[in-house]
Amino acid sequence: MSADPRPGQSSLQRRSAARTAVVWHALRDVLETRYADRPAAVVDIGGGTGGLAVRVAELGHQVVVVDPSPDALAILARRADESGVADRVSGRQGDLGTLSDLVPDGGTDVVLCHGVLEIVEDPAAALAALAAALRPGGTLSLLVNQRHAAVVTRAMAGHFTAARSLLESGSVGPATGPAAGGATNRRFTADEITAVLDDAGFDPEAMHAVRVFVDLVPSSLVDLEPGAAQALVELERAVATRPEYLALATQIHTLATRRGASG
Ligand SMILES: C[S@@+](CC[C@H](N)C(=O)[O-])C[C@H]1O[C@@H](n2cnc3c(N)ncnc32)[C@H](O)[C@@H]1O
Repeated sequence: MSADPRPGQSSLQRRSAARTAVVWHALRDVLETRYADRPAAVVDIGGGTGGLAVRVAELGHQVVVVDPSPDALAILARRADESGVADRVSGRQGDLGTLSDLVPDGGTDVVLCHGVLEIVEDPAAALAALAAALRPGGTLSLLVNQRHAAVVTRAMAGHFTAARSLLESGSVGPATGPAAGGATNRRFTADEITAVLDDAGFDPEAMHAVRVFVDLVPSSLVDLEPGAAQALVELERAVATRPEYLALATQIHTLATRRGASG
């Protein structure tokens, strides 16, 4: 996961930074304000090749990445090594179904679940497993794809039947990849996320609209003049906390607290 766009970056890197800035800033604020005096114990479920895990470890925190893909975990190990944080990042092969065998119940301060709830068979069971891993008062950082923007995108591309189907079913067809099983590839609304989190014992603290503009703006405009990429990031951050933009966002990022105790 990239930080803000920097001079000298390629067009691709600047766009990637603009895509991830809102989530990174929100997460870094949580880690810096709540874990200023000790490292947080962080679990990144479905953390893949560790782009986010390594950045979190670079802040001094201890991160366990749980992922079913051995290839992703191999890349994670190399990336952690190259970044000098191999002692703070460990990869464990597994999934949401085996999470309780891999990390102790109630022993985690922060769980990251980014891009995973869409592809699991049972999102409610997945959130229950994440709640069990977290200590009461611990934080869940949940990033999911948002439905309404995806409906608009499909319609704008002329895929009207697919747009209608997504609108009504909340799914864009079978998920792909070795770990996907028969799971669907869901898109969530903000109300659905709020409801499933509540059912699983979480209190949402903040919801962010992510990638409201960056997926729509042509690269030529982002690259047009110095400072355009940074201005785009600032615009994304300005709308991120405005609820009226949630339905326009490619993704929704939620920070939620596990109920049960102060923390
Ligand atoms: C879309 S990628 C997201 C990767 C990373 N979290 C990110 O945001 O860039 C989904 C990841 O979830 C993993 N995954 C698939 N099924 C899973 C499951 N049941 N439990 C945990 N992780 C799973 C995949 O191997 C993959 O690394």
